[in-house]
Amino acid sequence: MKHNAADGLFTKPSLKGVYILTDVLGDMRRTHHCNELGAGDIDKEVVLMGWVLRRRDHGGVIFVDLRDREGITQVVFNPTLDKKVHAKAHAIRNEWVLGVRGKVEHRPDGMVNPNLKTGEIEVLVTELKIFNRAKTPPFLIEDNIDVSETVRLKYRHLDLRRSQMQKNLKLRHQATATVRNYLNRHGVLDLETPFLTRSTPEGARDYLVPSRVNPGMFYALPQSPQIFKQLFMISGFDRYYQVVRCFRDEDLRADRQPEFTQIDIEMAFVGEEDVLDTTEGMMAELFHEVLGIKLKTPFSRLAYEDAVGRFGLDKPDTRFALELTDISDIVKGSGFKVFSEAVKKGGIVKALNAKGCINFSRKEIDDLTDFVLVYRAKGMAWIKVRDNEWQSPITKFFTDKEKKALTERIKMEPGDLVFFVADQPSVANEALGHLRNHLGKQLGLIDENEFRFVWVTQFPMFEYDETEKRLQALHHPFTSPFEEDYPKLKDEPLTVKSRAYDLVLNGFEIGGGSIRIHRKDLQVKIFKALGMDRQTYTEKFGFLLSALESGAPPHGGIAIGFDRLVMLLCGESSIRDVIAFPKTQKAACLLTQAPAETTKEQLGELSLRLRILNK
Ligand code: AMO
Ligand code: AMP
Repeated sequence: MKHNAADGLFTKPSLKGVYILTDVLGDMRRTHHCNELGAGDIDKEVVLMGWVLRRRDHGGVIFVDLRDREGITQVVFNPTLDKKVHAKAHAIRNEWVLGVRGKVEHRPDGMVNPNLKTGEIEVLVTELKIFNRAKTPPFLIEDNIDVSETVRLKYRHLDLRRSQMQKNLKLRHQATATVRNYLNRHGVLDLETPFLTRSTPEGARDYLVPSRVNPGMFYALPQSPQIFKQLFMISGFDRYYQVVRCFRDEDLRADRQPEFTQIDIEMAFVGEEDVLDTTEGMMAELFHEVLGIKLKTPFSRLAYEDAVGRFGLDKPDTRFALELTDISDIVKGSGFKVFSEAVKKGGIVKALNAKGCINFSRKEIDDLTDFVLVYRAKGMAWIKVRDNEWQSPITKFFTDKEKKALTERIKMEPGDLVFFVADQPSVANEALGHLRNHLGKQLGLIDENEFRFVWVTQFPMFEYDETEKRLQALHHPFTSPFEEDYPKLKDEPLTVKSRAYDLVLNGFEIGGGSIRIHRKDLQVKIFKALGMDRQTYTEKFGFLLSALESGAPPHGGIAIGFDRLVMLLCGESSIRDVIAFPKTQKAACLLTQAPAETTKEQLGELSLRLRILNK
């Protein structure tokens, strides 16, 4: 097929016959991106390709800000230079797709734009190709737009054109590249694992995929490649990584998606220190490459008990102090029944001293109380510390001795406002832990430019699941307990600690891992402690048990939640802003309208018939 070099084969005159669309590049090949040209390029002939960010008609001369993924260049259509090209440019509107050839010129005096990287120059156009028109977009393609996320996600292809999103996704690319580079250099092999597999227990619900050739049978999409990466160790691959998608059907939040990406790592013949060292090295290189920041390693460490005790949460934001205090022993016999009864029932009473917040109004305190109720607290007591007295509905309940002890323990000083929650430890800690984060932000205690990493270690192996009335693994059932705790597995399982570690950054859990169980007898003990009988664990994990009997080396690893990490690197507050095509809170893709109904035929092929319960 022969192309018409000037206007292309598929040309079509517009209604007015002024502009012509072309599908053909001809000899037009991009020479630069739109951020690249500067004073050093004056008089060069260049070709740029991109989208019209805006067009201004200044008494005959037409200015277009041409945008591509890297930036913006002003291109100029001057009728005195070329009448035909100028006439063609008249039709141009926002988001049209252009190719321009022209000469780089210095902008006239007074027209230099210091806020734009290419602000010193403009390109005087001698040849224009209009590749496509565009409908007026539903929102402006610029940063800080005032439009709902629903609209942004519906038109994600347009949203992604905005420079903020381009920046985020480019940073994401750079982060992946740096991580791969680091791991490749350290002899870690990038190996793939299946998506169509069996259920892997990471504590969420599975996404199921029906099998056509095995009617009535289902694959589960992996919640993580956990078992496969352990099998790699048993197969002798020694060092594994994968930048891999994981699928979890769980309640979604700003930092949770149904499909998300992990940097998944596993190593054989290692202990905790090796995994932590490798991870710290990777983070240091990543922050240096991507943000130019030098991280201080080794990262600090906190035992789980201290993290929860001092900060209320197992993912403490350690950028600010405002720690919690346990006052259970002081108030256990107090006349304030809310406190003493809670302690009698095995609960605790924790305090949070909001230094200098005595001027909080009743309304503000009520709002903070409502805030902790969300975390299942039953109420929140408070004391305002005046010069010589406490101002609080509960002052009357305390003896002078108790008051003195509380003052010392909580370091109460005039001007302070102290909050108290009495409840089961998990509730009291979590409620005040979230209140602590909330106040940290509200009171401006957080340096938003700081990155504070902390390892949380020595997790309990199990937690008690009240609804299912049985033990659950706090991490996953393949995590090794500490050897000295083996004897307690049977009779005091809740006191057993595991060799798990979480990596926490600015209050976000950005990774987790452990040293694994590599002996069959121990793995069986854990399955039993979790309430599985022989038939159940053999059916579900027989292949793993068999592998553990076939010469399994000691091994351990970690998985970094890559979306969360990139979110923090980008300074965003939602992982949806660093994922190209994310899902909504209802697990829907607004762009493609997934999930969607299917046809009878497709169900038939799968030997399935639909009967929807509870709809
Ligand atoms: P874990 O379940 O802790 O460990 O997951 C590792 C990290 O993945 C991130 N993450 C998520 N990110 C976005 N959306 C989600 N729904 C989501 N769920 C988890 C978190 C988390 O720290 N196989 C083990 C790792 C191991 O033991 O090596 C695992 O998957 O940042
Ligand atoms: P009440 O006895 O319900 O009138 O509560 C007296 C005070 O104790 C109020 O300020 C409540 O908000 C507070 N309070 C109630 N339950 C708790 C609790 N579990 N922990 C801390 N304070 C509570």
